[in-house]
Amino acid sequence: MNLTLRQLKIFEAVARCLSYTRASKELHLTQPAVSMQVKQLEESAGLPLFEQIGKRVFLTEAGQEMAHYARSVLDTLQEADQVFDEMRGMERGCLRIAVASTANYFVPRLLAAFCQRYPAVKVSLDVTNREGLLNALADNEVDLVIMGKPPDSMDLLAEIFMDNPLVVIASPQHPLAGEKNIPLQRLQEETFLIREQGSGTRSATERFFIDRDLSLSSAMEMSSSEAIKQGVEAGLGLGLLSLHTLEMELTLKRLVLLDVQELPILRKWYVMYRTGKRLSMVAQKFREFVLEESQSILDLPTLS
Ligand code: PGA
Repeated sequence: MNLTLRQLKIFEAVARCLSYTRASKELHLTQPAVSMQVKQLEESAGLPLFEQIGKRVFLTEAGQEMAHYARSVLDTLQEADQVFDEMRGMERGCLRIAVASTANYFVPRLLAAFCQRYPAVKVSLDVTNREGLLNALADNEVDLVIMGKPPDSMDLLAEIFMDNPLVVIASPQHPLAGEKNIPLQRLQEETFLIREQGSGTRSATERFFIDRDLSLSSAMEMSSSEAIKQGVEAGLGLGLLSLHTLEMELTLKRLVLLDVQELPILRKWYVMYRTGKRLSMVAQKFREFVLEESQSILDLPTLS
């Protein structure tokens, strides 16, 4: 059926008022204009929609069907309008974020506080390592990313919102546990459990040691901070991880921090997005929320 939205609106008014005169007044149109639109609609339906008996206007059977469908189309459009209004006013919308595996130790707490404030917001959270995040940014798959230092190779708008100290951990039974002021060189004699290639923690650690002409020659690679913590606890070696992944183990004293000269490695957490990306209202709000409120919402362990 070939019809216009304007015909549908006019038809709906006449069907509701059962009067051309009243419908024309309501629509601020002339009566012939209203009759013409209804006539065209009847032509495209191939059936009469109204019948006039005496002075009264009635819907035909086809008219009653058309009234039902017209109302449902117009209601659906109104609903869409409301959704867009809400999106503009930020009550709804979908937030697509991707965060570094290390940031996943605190980002869910931020999301919980954000969703409490904006309950109709839908969230899609992807957790991956630094390399995965850079791919997601390059392919424009996400609104915002939370990770360590932004790469030079991509045009990004990146803002710091929190410190991210990388610390050395050991099992409480390790011979170095409790020692003060351990020289950095001493770590070269130890086996280290390190993150996989592509991890930001790993690249920051490597850079730190290379810059000081040192290297961690005995290393065992593990693909998550969880695996490293379990391995260190079991006595496989030492680990170098973000302090933010260690809250529970330090509280329960399953792991201890080593007091090593020149450490911790001082990294920062950034919230970032591609230059030129048009952030949705929800994404803009979340970005502001992270920048302004994460420190007060997250009660993360600190070194001082
Ligand atoms: P991760 O951390 O890739 O080691 O989880 C990301 C980062 O620190 O940038």
